[in-house]
Amino acid sequence: RKAAITIPVVFHVVYNNGIENISEEQILSQLAVLNADFRRKNADAANTPAYFLPYAADAEIEFCLAVVDPDGNPTTGITRTRTDRTQFSYISDNVKFSSTGGTDAWDRNQYLNIWICNLDGQILGYSSTPETEARRDGVVLHYRAVGAYPANPFSSKYNLGRTGTHEVGHWLGLKHIWGNGTTCTDSDDIDDTPNQEGETQGCPDGISTSCDNGPYGNMWQNYMDYSYDNCMNLYTKGQAAYMQAVLSTTRSTILN
Ligand code: ARG
Ligand code: ZN
Ligand code: CA
Repeated sequence: RKAAITIPVVFHVVYNNGIENISEEQILSQLAVLNADFRRKNADAANTPAYFLPYAADAEIEFCLAVVDPDGNPTTGITRTRTDRTQFSYISDNVKFSSTGGTDAWDRNQYLNIWICNLDGQILGYSSTPETEARRDGVVLHYRAVGAYPANPFSSKYNLGRTGTHEVGHWLGLKHIWGNGTTCTDSDDIDDTPNQEGETQGCPDGISTSCDNGPYGNMWQNYMDYSYDNCMNLYTKGQAAYMQAVLSTTRSTILN
């Protein structure tokens, strides 16, 4: 079986105050969550129901901190930029540009850029897609949603680093598991995820069905749903194959 792929990551911390300038420990805990979830080494893989286990996948993708910056100099893989801006907007993408109080992307052909900042509007994070223009390519995470407890001291429902796992899924081309509409005719274009009507809130108590997807129902344990961090625990084989296909086509340069 082929070796896993490793993606170099740069975390850009853009902070207005000391609280937003999160610890290295918190950032490293996010990296560890990505490495566990994309290799199905997450401790809570044991919580995947038996009926979904045949679909659960090791996506064979790993992440490391960048060690060389775009100028060829050594880097920790973490940049820290102090800003006068107190909040950043998902709509304007302002954290991605030094001209609007953020910091510019590193070459997307070599790095996965993950910006960390104080996002407005109750947003935990967002991502570009493989089709997005280069200077906007990457993931943005609210500083409160980065990494896992205890290194993440901020949130209770979103403190296991699954916002990062979810957003990197988008970055590798995945759609929300319910297909973004609120009907049964739209889809995530992945065959082995159950057709699902809409997003899941919180953690359901057992099987929850929609779109005639019984007996096992919605896969609210999937990282591409909107459930709380502690009830998410899998990517499927179809999602893993899709992400690998993106890595061998649109995003192939990052592997060199
Ligand atoms: N709302 C965000 C998005 O659609 C993130 C959802 C993350 N969910 C979580 N349980 N951490 O990209
Ligand atoms: Zn999403
Ligand atoms: Ca599906």
